[in-house]
Amino acid sequence: MNIQWYPGHMTKARREMEADVRIVDMVIELLDARAPMASGNPEIRRLGQGKERVIVLNKSDLADAATTAAWIRSFQAEGAHCIAMDARGSGNRKLLLRTIEAAAAAKRERDKKRGILNRPVRAMVAGIPNVGKSTLINMLSGRSSAKTGNKPGVTRGNQWIRFQQSIELLDTPGILWPKFEAPAIGEKIAFLGSINEMIVDKTELAVTLLAFLRSKGKLEGAKERYQLTGTETAAEMLTEIARLRGCLMAGGEPDTEKAAGIVINEFRSGALGRISLEAPEGEAHGTENAEG
Ligand code: G4P
Repeated sequence: MNIQWYPGHMTKARREMEADVRIVDMVIELLDARAPMASGNPEIRRLGQGKERVIVLNKSDLADAATTAAWIRSFQAEGAHCIAMDARGSGNRKLLLRTIEAAAAAKRERDKKRGILNRPVRAMVAGIPNVGKSTLINMLSGRSSAKTGNKPGVTRGNQWIRFQQSIELLDTPGILWPKFEAPAIGEKIAFLGSINEMIVDKTELAVTLLAFLRSKGKLEGAKERYQLTGTETAAEMLTEIARLRGCLMAGGEPDTEKAAGIVINEFRSGALGRISLEAPEGEAHGTENAEG
């Protein structure tokens, strides 16, 4: 599938972020733990150059745990601070705060030497749409947060949130980039739900997803859930799922679009299993070589 989505508001948001990044100490980039490569926006990476880099592999509850551990090692080897989490719970809050503090250590030391006391560390929170930025900010800041309004030289659109008196987070809108380098990137981002549904053909997306899972040997969860038998093509599989799930149109024909919606939602919610779509280079990819 050739998916490209870069609406005008993202260009505007990127420009604002370019201006705002000058006054932050670090960029906290959220990646989807299921596809840390495809969900990594090269423009956010470029924006953060020269800043401390904190990578949060979010939605790790939906990814394969061993593959996520391999991703953490890979990002740490690049010099980034990296942790995995499920932003919906507060279980990893302390770990995230410790990671932010570790990334802030050099700045706090510099401030101390200059006699600057208690200046909060500023972090820009960035990521593609739907990766969990709002959830993470809410979890992190909780009730103790206060919106601090605009700062001089900072664009009006983006919101600062201050908490614990020592950390200020800059919330930014989800942005993508002008052209996905390969169709597989757009496809994975669409599987994750970060592309506007209006521009993606749901049936085609579900067929592409089933074919992808099969090619990676990760179809077990779907086979079990939908009680699929045989080795049909991905399109036949979707028709079978429509039939098994009772998705029928007026004349009794299978409603593959409805079935496509079910498959996509169930993949996104983890009902088809904890599935990583990518592994770092040189790492085994779960049951990658097994045929689905
Ligand atoms: P965004 O600001 O980056 O756009 O993302 P947001 O926080 O709105 O989160 C998008 C969806 O992802 C939300 O689902 C949220 O609950 C879910 N989510 C965020 N973090 C995690 C996580 O670590 N694990 C899991 N499993 N889900 C997470 P939602 O409110 O149900 O919205 P929707 O999916 O119905 O759009």
